[in-house]
Amino acid sequence: MPRLSGRLVVASHNAGKVREIGALLAPLGVEAISAGELGLPEPEETETTFVGNAALKARAAAEASGLPALSDDSGLEVFALGGDPGVYSARWAGPNRDFAAAMRRVWDELQRGGGDLSARFVCVLALAQPGGSVETFEGEARGQIVWPPRGDKGFGYDPIFRADGQTLTFGEMSHDEKLPLTHRARAFEKLLAALK
Ligand code: IMP
Repeated sequence: MPRLSGRLVVASHNAGKVREIGALLAPLGVEAISAGELGLPEPEETETTFVGNAALKARAAAEASGLPALSDDSGLEVFALGGDPGVYSARWAGPNRDFAAAMRRVWDELQRGGGDLSARFVCVLALAQPGGSVETFEGEARGQIVWPPRGDKGFGYDPIFRADGQTLTFGEMSHDEKLPLTHRARAFEKLLAALK
């Protein structure tokens, strides 16, 4: 069972993620500091699973800072593509973070399949203690790929993802509408339940 009190490093250099995670942790009385603020190096994501990469990032930040560290690794899995882009979701957008091209690639590759458009977003949170232990918590949001892309409110692959039971894509939803439906919120629920 993980324990949290005092200061915690959010093992991310992404200001948006750090802000969101900090807000989710605030009710626990935990002070979140980002790996960027501490000047910690950003490790290369060399693993082939969300769990592996999340654990690698959290472990590196806990070791470098001497504090507990929380990381987040996430992406889109398309079933007919054997789970691609998966852990390579950010890399499919290339160095210029061209998500229009990444979404087009998903759609182009789906044209060679049998018409199954099911997909899911996955988020793995990893909590590492400086002593070496790491716990992971996984959340998913299941849905369908739609084409053409719809909406400009989200980020990444949001415009081509419609969650089960919804008519709008994640890209068409406000932040407040999307958040409770997300893989990230579900992973957080599991983390918070384990901390209680
Ligand atoms: P990373 O975990 O920061 O490496 O991000 C992985 C990639 O997955 C992001 O760059 C996004 O493209 C994609 N991704 C993760 N979560 C979401 C989401 O909620 N909406 C859209 N794309 C997402």
